[in-house]
Amino acid sequence: MIRPFHLRTGSPEELEAVGRRFGETIDAPALVLLDGELGAGKTLFVRGMAAGLGKSPDEVTSPTFSLVNRYGTGRCPLVHLDLYRLDAATPESTARLVGLDDLLAEQAVVVVEWADRLEGLDLGSPIRVSIAYDGDDARIVDVRIPE
Ligand SMILES: Nc1ncnc2c1ncn2[C@@H]1O[C@H](COP(=O)(O)OP(=O)(O)OP(=O)(O)O)[C@@H](O)[C@H]1O
Ligand SMILES: [Mg+2]
Repeated sequence: MIRPFHLRTGSPEELEAVGRRFGETIDAPALVLLDGELGAGKTLFVRGMAAGLGKSPDEVTSPTFSLVNRYGTGRCPLVHLDLYRLDAATPESTARLVGLDDLLAEQAVVVVEWADRLEGLDLGSPIRVSIAYDGDDARIVDVRIPE
């Protein structure tokens, strides 16, 4: 079972390990909304999640231009979105452009970088992960689980 946590990591390796432990405890279907500034470590966290789901972390690449990546091996599919470059006018049009409804209907774990682009939409009960800078090499990771 997945639990909320709040912790500080002092290196990229530590953040990736936190993502792996998170990935080990998550079950499909699930939606994970990932927020954090540019370079905070969102993609690194997803690498860890992939490992925790039984995939090779090296499969994970930043979907900044592809918008949606899908990693199929392991315990369940992992669908990885990055909405940063999606210049849609509204959260509704953002969701429509990436086909979010269809993605959420899959028996998969869906993880979204720059999830603030979906703010205000009814997405059910997403898990929220925020990664914040705490100096150059440290990050604060906050995981919130819906009731
Ligand atoms: N404690 C830390 N945790 C995570 N990353 C760190 C840490 N310290 C330094 N870094 C560096 O920060 C960068 C994080 O990159 P990453 O691509 O994961 O960020 P991102 O949030 O996905 O960026 P983007 O907004 O461009 O998608 C890496 O270059 C990593 O080496
Ligand atoms: Mg990224």
